[in-house]
Amino acid sequence: MFRDKWCNEVNDSDIGSFIKLSGWVFRRRDHGGLIFVDLRDRSGIVQAVFSPEFSPEPHELAHSIRSEFVISLMGEVRRRPEGTENLNLPTGTVEVYVKELTILNESSVLPFMIEDAAEASESLRFKYRYLDLRRHDLQQNLIIRHKAVKSARDYFDEQGFLEIETPMLTKSTPEGARDFLVPSRLNPGYFYALPQSPQLFKQILMVAGFDRYFQVVKCFRDEDLRADRQPEFTQIDLEMSFVEKIDIITVIEGMLQKVFNDVLETSIQTPFPMLSYSESMERFGNDKPDTRFGLELISIDDLVRHSSFKVFLDAIHSGGRVKALNAKGLASLSRKEIDALTAEAQSFGAKGLAWIKVKNGFESPITKFFPNEILNKIAERFDAQEGDLMLFVADKEKIVNDVLSRMRLELGKRLKLIKEGFDFLWITDFPLLEWDAEESRFTAMHHPFTSPVDDDIESLFSAKSPDLTNPASILSTVRAKAYDIVLNGYEIGGGSIRIHRRDIQKKMFEVLGISDEEANVKFGFLLDALQYGAPPHGGIALGLDRLIMLMVGASSIRDVIAFPKTQKAYCLLSGAPSPVVPKQLRELNIKLDAKIL
Ligand code: AMO
Ligand code: AMP
Repeated sequence: MFRDKWCNEVNDSDIGSFIKLSGWVFRRRDHGGLIFVDLRDRSGIVQAVFSPEFSPEPHELAHSIRSEFVISLMGEVRRRPEGTENLNLPTGTVEVYVKELTILNESSVLPFMIEDAAEASESLRFKYRYLDLRRHDLQQNLIIRHKAVKSARDYFDEQGFLEIETPMLTKSTPEGARDFLVPSRLNPGYFYALPQSPQLFKQILMVAGFDRYFQVVKCFRDEDLRADRQPEFTQIDLEMSFVEKIDIITVIEGMLQKVFNDVLETSIQTPFPMLSYSESMERFGNDKPDTRFGLELISIDDLVRHSSFKVFLDAIHSGGRVKALNAKGLASLSRKEIDALTAEAQSFGAKGLAWIKVKNGFESPITKFFPNEILNKIAERFDAQEGDLMLFVADKEKIVNDVLSRMRLELGKRLKLIKEGFDFLWITDFPLLEWDAEESRFTAMHHPFTSPVDDDIESLFSAKSPDLTNPASILSTVRAKAYDIVLNGYEIGGGSIRIHRRDIQKKMFEVLGISDEEANVKFGFLLDALQYGAPPHGGIALGLDRLIMLMVGASSIRDVIAFPKTQKAYCLLSGAPSPVVPKQLRELNIKLDAKIL
């Protein structure tokens, strides 16, 4: 009834025939005699022409149509007159002379023009997300997302994986964020948690013998939001039995290869490079390095000892580090510009930013603290040439790495070092545990179900209670069978081989300071399951939103999610979260604190 084909499918082969099209009025240009309308649907745009000579009635009606009216038309496809073709459009050689026009619906004046939506404020765009989503770019992003998920599903099916759904109303899973809670009406005072991931259920599916599980699944985490973090997001989640790390890695590389090939017609090289966690921290200052450019961090701990610069010496003597970057060619920066860089480093947490320019020798307020021989050694280590600028940070290791890894990214952009393309990387050999200084205890670097490396199981079991509260104890040396996958500086996935022995799982809870009682309350069902023939198993979850963001070249996952939330986890379109009526609260046996009413 409404269409013979999509707008952007109209082409030279249709010339001379009459076709029906439906869509939105993208632009309308009234040239006195002729009225031109760019008709838009999901596929693209085609030019419709209203001519009083060809058909007076629709021409008359066309005077009243405005942007974003919904219309349906029937007309003759003609070749555009010479010189009026638009080579930027797939339909740019043709136009449709309208014989019949039906206005299916009108539109009020828009809060922003669809064409200019990208420039509208985010709050306006999110409020009118249905208009924002009329943008070609956003539609394209969601189409690519659809294709990528379809390609991944096909791949997993071919590889013998079963897609099995896991509950949304469940128990807390410890992925490190706060839970979203759902009160239970039937069980007063009891709450479900929305899953932070299907972690425990997918492990239970392995105990049940499904062997290869996957799911495209929503996860919920109440955490601080950023460009690459939403309170609800989607994982491509999988778990396999009778596998080692390399099996999971191979499956994921195969999947990504297929998805990139199917969706972007891009071939990606496998196997992806692998970097140990410690090497990544040393060379890039974080565990998700963008490896599309160099500008690596360089340590000068050993050389600093020969200087008299108190800032550096103090850092080293208190167990810290001195590391630096060579900002190639930036010796031309003025004092003011260097001050701005320093302020930037300080905003990242540094106390200051020391610098040395290579400019007719060395130029810097700190050269006086270094013998010439050491200055030359530093320059040599940095491969510093005339015109380069070396930037130093001295502090606790964590701060040095954090600041310099962020400076590295900023400078990489500024110096235009970041090449186009997709750089995948596996990070492996993570420590099993991480010291939480605030709480004076170890926490799981991934999650508590991650297996220690076989050779380190003995160390784990040898840990006695004083080791649990000593950051330098044997526990800090235990390595995990965990792996993260990184793409262009984003962590797009993480996983591990799991603990499948109950005794190791119990020991793990013990070193995490989780009592038997607490472990039973929280994860009793997993501990129970592990005693009934749990096979060795492992898995991984990819952050689908981040993956698609990188595939389409967007800078935020909000551009690849149909209905994203704001920084404050608010859905401006629906107005969620919102207060509820007192009756609902009574049914749930919930009373609100008078302070917030
Ligand atoms: P992890 O917590 O590393 O692992 O999550 C897997 C991947 O999900 C993405 N991700 C997010 N994306 C958007 N917004 C968020 N708030 C967000 N949080 C995480 C990241 C991340 O790499 N159960 C384990 C997986 C496993 O061990 O198999 C897990 O959830 O890209
Ligand atoms: P000051 O001794 O405080 O005058 O600092 C001398 C230079 O060292 C300045 O350029 C500071 O920005 C820099 N600086 C101060 N603290 C640090 C630090 N922790 N790491 C690197 N540079 C620093």
